[in-house]
Amino acid sequence: MTPNPRFQTTLATPTRDAVVVELHASMAEMIDLALQGKQLHWNIVGPRFQSIHEFLDELVDTYRGWSDDLAERCTALGVAPDGTAGYISDHSGLPQCPSGFQPDMVVAEAMAERVLLAAKHVRERAERLADLDPASEDLLLEILAGLEEQAWMLQAQSMTGTAESAADAKREPKSANGSAAKPRIGAAAS
Ligand SMILES: [Fe+2]
Repeated sequence: MTPNPRFQTTLATPTRDAVVVELHASMAEMIDLALQGKQLHWNIVGPRFQSIHEFLDELVDTYRGWSDDLAERCTALGVAPDGTAGYISDHSGLPQCPSGFQPDMVVAEAMAERVLLAAKHVRERAERLADLDPASEDLLLEILAGLEEQAWMLQAQSMTGTAESAADAKREPKSANGSAAKPRIGAAAS
């Protein structure tokens, strides 16, 4: 992120800088979601290949659009965004998706987990922007609503459709030693 002092904005510089931190972090995660969505799109196998393979491409298109919106909001505030591969690798707050061919249900759950985590981060950032810049807050809220809709759709694709399995998904899982295990899809992201 590089400010250009020749660009004038309606925000005081310290406020502008605080706003851009939130926008830029969100941009990095949208670019990461686009990359990981493509990775899973290419490597999915299984009986639900076609529908999830195509759905992932739809998601990737939205992440590319949102990352463009966020990057250009940074630019409108006089700060040059950095969307290079090296920057995204170093700064995304999302875990890397599994490599190699993956079963369709693993793909749906892995993508849902990352989308939920990104939504949680975007919600936290939008809350911090509420008193700083409503215009930037609005952009994050629009993205938040879209991410939460995607998370629902991905979770629905990874459910078996029985009431029993839905109830199981809501229970906090325990590992073999009794400690809390990694949350399943359907539990709150952390
Ligand atoms: Fe493709």
